[in-house]
Amino acid sequence: MATADDTPFLHIRNLRVWYGTADSAPVVRIDELALFRGQFLGLAGESGAGKTTAGLTVLGLTRHAGARVTGSIRLAGEELVSAPERRLRRLRGTTMALIPQNPAAAFHPVLPVGVTVLRALRLHGCTRAEARRRAATALERVGLPADHLSRLPHQLSGGQLQRVAIALASALRTRLLLADEPTSALDVTVQAEICALLAELRDTHGTAVLFISHDLALLAGLCDRIAVLHQGRVIEDRPAADLVAAPWADCTRRLLAAVPRLGIPAAPGPGEGRDEEAAGA
Ligand SMILES: Nc1ncnc2c1ncn2[C@@H]1O[C@H](COP(=O)(O)OP(=O)(O)OP(=O)(O)O)[C@@H](O)[C@H]1O
Ligand SMILES: [Mg+2]
Repeated sequence: MATADDTPFLHIRNLRVWYGTADSAPVVRIDELALFRGQFLGLAGESGAGKTTAGLTVLGLTRHAGARVTGSIRLAGEELVSAPERRLRRLRGTTMALIPQNPAAAFHPVLPVGVTVLRALRLHGCTRAEARRRAATALERVGLPADHLSRLPHQLSGGQLQRVAIALASALRTRLLLADEPTSALDVTVQAEICALLAELRDTHGTAVLFISHDLALLAGLCDRIAVLHQGRVIEDRPAADLVAAPWADCTRRLLAAVPRLGIPAAPGPGEGRDEEAAGA
């Protein structure tokens, strides 16, 4: 019998997502994926594996791209797949938020970033004074001077914009953060800073983070668990250290081989053919 503590905060079951017709293969077919409060779950996989689609589906955003979605996504026990758009809009930004690969896309190009931040806070029930106070505190926490709120998105660097996006998630006290390759456009030093900020958010607010990346070295240093997607299916979902030390699937091995920092050889081992075996099961 499940207790409150072993109930996942985010629980995906039998999820199928199609962009085309129902007789085409679904691009996401996740039988089960669980994320607990205060946990970092890495979602890895090669390009086209379905990582972004899975993440956007949790936020209820693939509907807008005409996707068909079946199965179950529960967030703190609430079913999202059948939830009305109004409810999802309410949850996005309060309970769950997206940190995109390209943060510029999250801000209006001709509005100061502070306007976006304050609007989001006001929309979610803060008074004007409370919104200003929260925005200033959150900005300070990510190491940016408050006057950066008056800048336009293009007047901030990619790393600075990503900090503003994280500050907004922090100010909104987001409980689930979907970070879709949030650092792939940034250099390694800034990447480390952004990862540290996400970890701080987890520690301060108990935020659960689904961190999407093809960089297994980055995920290994950050995540409790890593799930690897291959052709939309989860082919490995294990503690990060175990997965990196002894990958099961060919595709995981290829991802590791692509990371020079870990120096793991690309040659397939005894598990050759595992992708197809696992995916076809
Ligand atoms: N809006 C869309 N309409 C139709 N097909 C799409 C759409 N978005 C993605 N796809 C397809 O769905 C599959 C999964 O794409 P997705 O973007 O989820 O992969 P990904 O794992 O995030 O890849 P990457 O690492 O390159 O970001 C791909 O075959 C892609 O072409
Ligand atoms: Mg993607």
